[in-house]
Amino acid sequence: MTRFGIIGGGLMGHGIAVALAQAGHRIVVYDADPVTLASLDERIVRALERCDTPPGDVGMMTARITAAKTLADLVLRVDVVIEAVPERLDVKHQVLAALEEKIPAVMPVWSNTSVLSLTEVAKDMRHPQRLVGVHWWNPPYVIPLVEVAPGAETDHRFVQEACDMLDGMGKTTVRLHRDVRGFIGNRLQFALVREALHLLEQGVCDPGTIDTVMRTSLGLRWSAVGPMENADFIGLDLTRDILDSLAPHLSVAVTFPALDKPLSAGHRGRASGGGLLAWPAGQGEEVAERLDSGIRRNLVEP
Ligand SMILES: NC(=O)c1ccc[n+]([C@@H]2O[C@H](COP(=O)([O-])OP(=O)(O)OC[C@H]3O[C@@H](n4cnc5c(N)ncnc54)[C@H](O)[C@@H]3O)[C@@H](O)[C@H]2O)c1
Repeated sequence: MTRFGIIGGGLMGHGIAVALAQAGHRIVVYDADPVTLASLDERIVRALERCDTPPGDVGMMTARITAAKTLADLVLRVDVVIEAVPERLDVKHQVLAALEEKIPAVMPVWSNTSVLSLTEVAKDMRHPQRLVGVHWWNPPYVIPLVEVAPGAETDHRFVQEACDMLDGMGKTTVRLHRDVRGFIGNRLQFALVREALHLLEQGVCDPGTIDTVMRTSLGLRWSAVGPMENADFIGLDLTRDILDSLAPHLSVAVTFPALDKPLSAGHRGRASGGGLLAWPAGQGEEVAERLDSGIRRNLVEP
Protein backbone atom coordinates (compact mmCIF):
# COMPACT_ATOMS: atom_id res chain seq x y z
CA MET A 1 0.00 0.00 0.00
CA THR A 2 1.36 3.40 -1.03
CA ARG A 3 0.12 6.74 0.29
CA PHE A 4 -0.55 9.19 -2.55
CA GLY A 5 -1.12 12.91 -2.27
CA ILE A 6 -3.05 14.52 -5.13
CA ILE A 7 -2.91 18.28 -5.67
CA GLY A 8 -6.01 19.33 -7.60
CA GLY A 9 -9.26 17.46 -6.98
CA GLY A 10 -10.99 18.36 -10.26
CA LEU A 11 -11.98 16.00 -13.06
CA MET A 12 -8.66 14.13 -13.18
CA GLY A 13 -7.66 14.47 -9.53
CA HIS A 14 -10.84 12.81 -8.24
CA GLY A 15 -10.70 10.16 -10.99
CA ILE A 16 -7.08 9.28 -10.25
CA ALA A 17 -8.00 9.02 -6.56
CA VAL A 18 -10.70 6.47 -7.47
CA ALA A 19 -8.25 4.47 -9.63
CA LEU A 20 -5.70 4.39 -6.80
CA ALA A 21 -8.33 3.46 -4.21
CA GLN A 22 -9.50 0.58 -6.44
CA ALA A 23 -5.91 -0.73 -6.26
CA GLY A 24 -5.90 -0.60 -2.46
CA HIS A 25 -3.85 2.58 -1.93
CA ARG A 26 -4.50 5.47 0.46
CA ILE A 27 -5.04 8.91 -1.02
CA VAL A 28 -5.13 12.46 0.31
CA VAL A 29 -6.51 15.15 -2.00
CA TYR A 30 -5.93 18.89 -1.71
CA ASP A 31 -7.65 21.52 -3.85
CA ALA A 32 -7.26 25.29 -3.61
CA ASP A 33 -10.99 25.67 -4.21
CA PRO A 34 -13.03 24.80 -1.09
CA VAL A 35 -16.19 24.18 -3.15
CA THR A 36 -14.38 21.57 -5.26
CA LEU A 37 -12.98 19.96 -2.13
CA ALA A 38 -16.42 19.90 -0.48
CA SER A 39 -17.90 17.99 -3.45
CA LEU A 40 -15.04 15.45 -3.58
CA ASP A 41 -16.82 12.71 -1.63
CA GLU A 42 -19.99 12.93 -3.68
CA ARG A 43 -18.10 12.85 -7.01
CA ILE A 44 -16.08 9.85 -5.89
CA VAL A 45 -19.19 7.93 -4.87
CA ARG A 46 -20.80 8.73 -8.23
CA ALA A 47 -17.71 7.47 -10.11
CA LEU A 48 -17.67 4.25 -8.09
CA GLU A 49 -21.37 3.73 -8.76
CA ARG A 50 -20.84 4.26 -12.50
CA CYS A 51 -18.28 1.39 -12.29
CA ASP A 52 -20.95 -0.85 -10.77
CA THR A 53 -18.93 -1.10 -7.55
CA PRO A 54 -20.85 -3.34 -5.13
CA PRO A 55 -22.53 -1.08 -2.53
CA GLY A 56 -20.56 -2.80 0.26
CA ASP A 57 -17.27 -1.84 -1.41
CA VAL A 58 -18.15 1.81 -2.02
CA GLY A 59 -17.69 2.65 1.67
CA MET A 60 -14.39 0.76 1.82
CA MET A 61 -13.04 2.66 -1.22
CA THR A 62 -14.19 6.08 -0.07
CA ALA A 63 -12.61 5.46 3.34
CA ARG A 64 -9.25 5.25 1.54
CA ILE A 65 -9.61 8.80 0.22
CA THR A 66 -9.48 11.84 2.48
CA ALA A 67 -9.47 15.58 1.78
CA ALA A 68 -6.77 17.93 3.06
CA LYS A 69 -7.62 21.58 3.66
CA THR A 70 -4.03 22.76 3.05
CA LEU A 71 -0.97 21.63 1.15
CA ALA A 72 0.86 21.35 4.46
CA ASP A 73 -1.78 18.84 5.65
CA LEU A 74 -1.48 16.83 2.45
CA VAL A 75 2.29 16.31 2.60
CA LEU A 76 2.22 15.03 6.18
CA ARG A 77 0.93 11.61 5.20
CA VAL A 78 2.19 10.73 1.70
CA ASP A 79 4.91 8.80 -0.17
CA VAL A 80 4.25 10.08 -3.71
CA VAL A 81 2.70 13.38 -4.83
CA ILE A 82 0.65 13.76 -8.03
CA GLU A 83 -0.08 17.19 -9.44
CA ALA A 84 -3.37 17.46 -11.32
CA VAL A 85 -3.81 21.24 -11.39
CA PRO A 86 -4.88 23.13 -14.56
CA GLU A 87 -2.83 22.83 -17.72
CA ARG A 88 -0.99 26.14 -17.27
CA LEU A 89 2.75 26.31 -16.85
CA ASP A 90 2.58 29.21 -14.36
CA VAL A 91 0.13 27.31 -12.14
CA LYS A 92 2.20 24.11 -12.26
CA HIS A 93 5.38 26.08 -11.42
CA GLN A 94 3.74 27.81 -8.48
CA VAL A 95 2.35 24.54 -7.10
CA LEU A 96 5.64 22.66 -7.50
CA ALA A 97 7.61 25.48 -5.82
CA ALA A 98 5.26 25.46 -2.82
CA LEU A 99 5.37 21.66 -2.69
CA GLU A 100 9.16 21.39 -2.78
CA GLU A 101 9.44 23.60 0.30
CA LYS A 102 7.51 20.96 2.21
CA ILE A 103 8.73 17.54 1.04
CA PRO A 104 12.06 15.69 1.19
CA ALA A 105 14.26 15.69 -1.94
CA VAL A 106 13.75 11.97 -2.52
CA MET A 107 9.94 12.05 -2.68
CA PRO A 108 8.66 11.29 -6.22
CA VAL A 109 6.44 13.88 -7.91
CA TRP A 110 4.21 12.85 -10.83
CA SER A 111 2.77 15.42 -13.22
CA ASN A 112 -0.49 14.67 -15.02
CA THR A 113 0.17 17.27 -17.71
CA SER A 114 -1.45 16.42 -21.05
CA VAL A 115 0.56 18.46 -23.53
CA LEU A 116 3.15 20.58 -21.71
CA SER A 117 6.86 19.80 -21.98
CA LEU A 118 7.91 17.94 -18.82
CA THR A 119 11.29 19.62 -19.05
CA GLU A 120 9.54 22.99 -18.89
CA VAL A 121 7.25 21.87 -16.07
CA ALA A 122 10.36 20.89 -14.06
CA LYS A 123 12.39 23.94 -15.12
CA ASP A 124 12.43 25.81 -11.79
CA MET A 125 12.35 22.79 -9.52
CA ARG A 126 15.02 22.39 -6.88
CA HIS A 127 15.07 18.64 -7.57
CA PRO A 128 13.90 18.16 -11.19
CA GLN A 129 15.26 14.60 -11.19
CA ARG A 130 12.13 13.46 -9.26
CA LEU A 131 9.56 14.84 -11.71
CA VAL A 132 7.96 12.13 -13.84
CA GLY A 133 5.21 12.65 -16.42
CA VAL A 134 2.45 10.19 -15.54
CA HIS A 135 -0.42 10.83 -17.91
CA TRP A 136 -3.72 9.17 -17.03
CA TRP A 137 -6.66 9.09 -19.39
CA ASN A 138 -10.16 10.15 -18.45
CA PRO A 139 -11.86 8.32 -16.79
CA PRO A 140 -8.67 7.06 -15.05
CA TYR A 141 -10.58 4.35 -13.16
CA VAL A 142 -11.83 2.89 -16.45
CA ILE A 143 -9.16 3.47 -19.11
CA PRO A 144 -6.26 1.02 -18.70
CA LEU A 145 -3.53 3.15 -20.27
CA VAL A 146 -1.12 5.37 -18.35
CA GLU A 147 1.71 7.02 -20.29
CA VAL A 148 4.97 7.61 -18.43
CA ALA A 149 7.76 9.89 -19.65
CA PRO A 150 10.84 11.61 -18.24
CA GLY A 151 11.80 15.28 -18.44
CA ALA A 152 15.34 16.08 -19.61
CA GLU A 153 16.65 15.96 -16.04
CA THR A 154 14.53 13.13 -14.64
CA ASP A 155 16.41 10.32 -12.91
CA HIS A 156 15.31 7.13 -14.66
CA ARG A 157 15.02 5.33 -11.34
CA PHE A 158 11.96 7.51 -10.59
CA VAL A 159 10.51 6.58 -14.00
CA GLN A 160 11.09 2.87 -13.36
CA GLU A 161 9.53 3.14 -9.90
CA ALA A 162 6.42 4.84 -11.35
CA CYS A 163 6.09 2.14 -14.05
CA ASP A 164 6.45 -0.62 -11.46
CA MET A 165 3.75 0.92 -9.23
CA LEU A 166 1.34 1.38 -12.13
CA ASP A 167 1.98 -2.15 -13.42
CA GLY A 168 1.31 -3.38 -9.87
CA MET A 169 -2.12 -1.71 -10.02
CA GLY A 170 -2.93 -3.57 -13.21
CA LYS A 171 -2.70 -0.50 -15.45
CA THR A 172 -1.34 -0.77 -19.00
CA THR A 173 1.81 1.29 -18.61
CA VAL A 174 3.73 2.58 -21.61
CA ARG A 175 7.11 4.21 -21.12
CA LEU A 176 8.28 6.88 -23.56
CA HIS A 177 12.01 7.18 -24.24
CA ARG A 178 11.98 10.96 -23.96
CA ASP A 179 9.95 14.09 -23.27
CA VAL A 180 7.51 14.98 -26.07
CA ARG A 181 4.53 17.34 -25.89
CA GLY A 182 1.26 15.37 -25.78
CA PHE A 183 2.88 11.99 -25.04
CA ILE A 184 1.70 9.50 -27.72
CA GLY A 185 -2.05 9.42 -27.23
CA ASN A 186 -2.80 13.12 -27.45
CA ARG A 187 -0.53 13.56 -30.46
CA LEU A 188 -2.52 10.87 -32.28
CA GLN A 189 -5.83 12.20 -30.99
CA PHE A 190 -5.25 15.81 -32.02
CA ALA A 191 -3.83 14.90 -35.44
CA LEU A 192 -7.24 13.35 -35.99
CA VAL A 193 -9.14 16.30 -34.49
CA ARG A 194 -7.24 18.67 -36.78
CA GLU A 195 -8.25 16.65 -39.83
CA ALA A 196 -11.88 16.51 -38.63
CA LEU A 197 -11.99 20.32 -38.33
CA HIS A 198 -10.44 20.59 -41.80
CA LEU A 199 -13.24 18.42 -43.24
CA LEU A 200 -15.84 20.73 -41.63
CA GLU A 201 -14.10 23.81 -43.00
CA GLN A 202 -14.01 22.25 -46.48
CA GLY A 203 -17.79 21.67 -46.33
CA VAL A 204 -17.43 17.89 -46.63
CA CYS A 205 -19.84 16.98 -43.82
CA ASP A 206 -21.35 18.13 -40.54
CA PRO A 207 -19.87 17.43 -37.06
CA GLY A 208 -22.32 14.63 -36.24
CA THR A 209 -21.22 12.74 -39.36
CA ILE A 210 -17.58 12.80 -38.22
CA ASP A 211 -18.62 11.18 -34.93
CA THR A 212 -20.74 8.55 -36.71
CA VAL A 213 -17.83 7.59 -38.97
CA MET A 214 -15.45 7.38 -36.04
CA ARG A 215 -17.74 5.46 -33.69
CA THR A 216 -18.90 2.89 -36.27
CA SER A 217 -15.56 2.19 -37.98
CA LEU A 218 -12.20 3.40 -36.71
CA GLY A 219 -13.19 3.47 -33.05
CA LEU A 220 -14.12 -0.20 -33.32
CA ARG A 221 -11.16 -1.24 -35.42
CA TRP A 222 -8.54 0.52 -33.33
CA SER A 223 -9.78 -1.06 -30.13
CA ALA A 224 -9.05 -4.46 -31.72
CA VAL A 225 -6.09 -3.82 -34.06
CA GLY A 226 -3.82 -0.78 -33.69
CA PRO A 227 -2.77 1.36 -36.67
CA MET A 228 0.76 -0.10 -36.83
CA GLU A 229 -0.45 -3.69 -36.82
CA ASN A 230 -3.10 -2.72 -39.37
CA ALA A 231 -0.44 -1.17 -41.64
CA ASP A 232 1.37 -4.50 -41.68
CA PHE A 233 -1.90 -6.40 -42.02
CA ILE A 234 -3.00 -4.56 -45.19
CA GLY A 235 0.63 -4.39 -46.37
CA LEU A 236 3.20 -1.62 -46.14
CA ASP A 237 3.15 -1.24 -49.92
CA LEU A 238 -0.57 -0.44 -49.88
CA THR A 239 -0.09 1.82 -46.84
CA ARG A 240 2.63 3.65 -48.76
CA ASP A 241 0.45 4.02 -51.89
CA ILE A 242 -2.42 5.44 -49.81
CA LEU A 243 -0.16 7.94 -48.08
CA ASP A 244 1.42 9.01 -51.38
CA SER A 245 -2.02 9.80 -52.70
CA LEU A 246 -3.62 11.25 -49.54
CA ALA A 247 -0.87 12.88 -47.47
CA PRO A 248 -0.55 16.02 -49.65
CA HIS A 249 -4.26 16.71 -49.02
CA LEU A 250 -4.32 16.23 -45.25
CA SER A 251 -4.42 19.25 -42.99
CA VAL A 252 -1.27 20.79 -41.56
CA ALA A 253 -3.25 23.82 -40.28
CA VAL A 254 -2.27 25.79 -37.21
CA THR A 255 -5.41 27.96 -37.22
CA PHE A 256 -8.89 26.56 -36.66
CA PRO A 257 -11.83 28.64 -37.94
CA ALA A 258 -14.24 25.76 -37.29
CA LEU A 259 -13.53 26.25 -33.57
CA ASP A 260 -13.10 30.03 -33.61
CA LYS A 261 -16.55 30.64 -35.11
CA PRO A 262 -18.61 28.99 -32.34
CA LEU A 263 -16.21 30.24 -29.69
CA SER A 264 -16.64 33.87 -30.80
CA ALA A 265 -20.42 33.39 -30.38
CA GLY A 266 -19.91 32.09 -26.82
CA HIS A 267 -20.58 28.44 -27.76
CA ARG A 268 -17.96 26.49 -25.79
CA GLY A 269 -19.60 23.06 -25.99
CA ARG A 270 -21.29 21.13 -23.19
CA ALA A 271 -20.73 23.85 -20.56
CA SER A 272 -22.57 26.52 -22.57
CA GLY A 273 -25.32 24.31 -23.95
CA GLY A 274 -23.88 24.16 -27.47
CA GLY A 275 -20.67 23.96 -29.45
CA LEU A 276 -20.03 21.96 -32.62
CA LEU A 277 -23.22 20.08 -31.65
CA ALA A 278 -26.32 21.02 -29.63
CA TRP A 279 -26.18 20.09 -25.93
CA PRO A 280 -29.72 19.94 -24.54
CA ALA A 281 -30.18 19.65 -20.77
CA GLY A 282 -29.18 16.22 -19.44
CA GLN A 283 -26.96 15.42 -22.42
CA GLY A 284 -23.76 15.98 -20.39
CA GLU A 285 -24.73 13.33 -17.85
CA GLU A 286 -25.78 10.93 -20.59
CA VAL A 287 -22.39 11.30 -22.32
CA ALA A 288 -20.46 10.84 -19.03
CA GLU A 289 -22.41 7.66 -18.40
CA ARG A 290 -21.90 6.44 -22.00
CA LEU A 291 -18.17 7.20 -21.76
CA ASP A 292 -17.75 5.02 -18.67
CA SER A 293 -20.07 2.17 -19.67
CA GLY A 294 -19.10 2.16 -23.38
CA ILE A 295 -15.39 1.96 -22.65
CA ARG A 296 -15.86 -0.75 -20.03
CA ARG A 297 -17.91 -2.79 -22.51
CA ASN A 298 -15.20 -2.54 -25.17
CA LEU A 299 -12.18 -3.22 -22.99
CA VAL A 300 -9.73 -5.53 -24.73
CA GLU A 301 -6.50 -7.14 -23.61
CA PRO A 302 -3.49 -5.03 -24.66
N1 LIG B 1 -9.53 16.53 -18.56
C1 LIG B 1 -8.92 15.49 -19.11
O1 LIG B 1 -9.52 14.68 -19.83
C2 LIG B 1 -7.46 15.25 -18.82
C3 LIG B 1 -6.89 14.01 -19.16
C4 LIG B 1 -5.56 13.77 -18.85
C5 LIG B 1 -4.80 14.76 -18.25
N2 LIG B 1 -5.37 15.97 -17.95
C6 LIG B 1 -4.54 16.97 -17.25
O2 LIG B 1 -4.79 16.90 -15.86
C7 LIG B 1 -4.59 18.18 -15.25
C8 LIG B 1 -5.86 18.58 -14.54
O3 LIG B 1 -6.91 18.64 -15.46
P1 LIG B 1 -8.45 18.54 -15.02
O4 LIG B 1 -9.20 18.25 -16.27
O5 LIG B 1 -8.60 17.67 -13.85
O6 LIG B 1 -8.73 20.06 -14.58
P2 LIG B 1 -9.83 20.59 -13.54
O7 LIG B 1 -9.96 22.04 -13.83
O8 LIG B 1 -11.03 19.74 -13.55
O9 LIG B 1 -9.11 20.40 -12.12
C9 LIG B 1 -8.01 21.17 -11.70
C10 LIG B 1 -8.20 21.45 -10.22
O10 LIG B 1 -7.02 22.10 -9.72
C11 LIG B 1 -7.44 23.03 -8.74
N3 LIG B 1 -6.38 24.02 -8.54
C12 LIG B 1 -6.09 25.11 -9.31
N4 LIG B 1 -5.00 25.75 -8.81
C13 LIG B 1 -4.61 25.04 -7.70
C14 LIG B 1 -3.58 25.19 -6.76
N5 LIG B 1 -2.71 26.21 -6.85
N6 LIG B 1 -3.48 24.30 -5.75
C15 LIG B 1 -4.36 23.28 -5.63
N7 LIG B 1 -5.38 23.08 -6.51
C16 LIG B 1 -5.50 23.95 -7.53
C17 LIG B 1 -8.72 23.62 -9.27
O11 LIG B 1 -9.51 24.19 -8.24
C18 LIG B 1 -9.37 22.40 -9.92
O12 LIG B 1 -10.27 21.75 -9.05
C19 LIG B 1 -4.20 19.10 -16.41
O13 LIG B 1 -2.81 19.18 -16.50
C20 LIG B 1 -4.79 18.40 -17.62
O14 LIG B 1 -4.16 18.73 -18.84
C21 LIG B 1 -6.68 16.23 -18.20
